[in-house]
Amino acid sequence: MHRVTLQPSGLQFEVEDSESVLVAALRQGYVLPYGCKNGACGSCKGKLLEGTLDYGVYQKKALPDEEKAQGKALFCQAKPLGDVVIEARTIGAAKDIPVKTLPCRVQTLRRLAEDVMVLQLKLPANERLQFLAGQYLEFLLKDGSRRSFSMGNAPHADELVELHVRRVIGGQFTDHVFGKMKERDILRFEGPLGVFFLREESPKPVVLVASGTGFAPIKSLVEDALRRGIERPMTLTAGASFACRSISR
Ligand code: FES
Repeated sequence: MHRVTLQPSGLQFEVEDSESVLVAALRQGYVLPYGCKNGACGSCKGKLLEGTLDYGVYQKKALPDEEKAQGKALFCQAKPLGDVVIEARTIGAAKDIPVKTLPCRVQTLRRLAEDVMVLQLKLPANERLQFLAGQYLEFLLKDGSRRSFSMGNAPHADELVELHVRRVIGGQFTDHVFGKMKERDILRFEGPLGVFFLREESPKPVVLVASGTGFAPIKSLVEDALRRGIERPMTLTAGASFACRSISR
């Protein structure tokens, strides 16, 4: 077990021997920025100020050697080899929301288009999924894989969790949603996850761009902003593709 001190916040948390800095931080409710969690995107990059790290496996384009020489590290991969002090930005608002693993029941399945299904999920009694508008959850499937979907409901409308699922041909999970899934089926998920949400400290106008089922987190964000009376100008651009069928006579 090692101790990580985050700068400039001064927050501290423990890291188990087998854990990356990011996994340990998230487990303890501190949200560091991340994207792929796989050493490929660079979203989790920060700086080592004191101590030593096992840098793990990553792609050079995400952490070129010259950046590593300057002390940079990918915290989704890096494991402390002792107590460390690192420089990393924390997502202040999300860290207060615990990430939970919960069962849920499919309450309704509503087909909006040939390849789009809206799922509404009911949580156990006394459970609500607290989240920031824009975040997502991950279904935990029996084979150990995960599937991510953004919440389409606003956080205040938390009686049911709404997800927009687009069918991916040959996609094991979405084929199931469009084929065998039925109301009252039980699923398990982990959430909320992700760092896509409105940064409220900024006064700048907001431009939102969405396409297809990527509209779900934007819908959540806009409904949340309207409910809370946020007065920043917001522009929403949404696109969708339409399947055209030829009719032969
Ligand atoms: S989250 Fe993508 S490289 Fe770490």
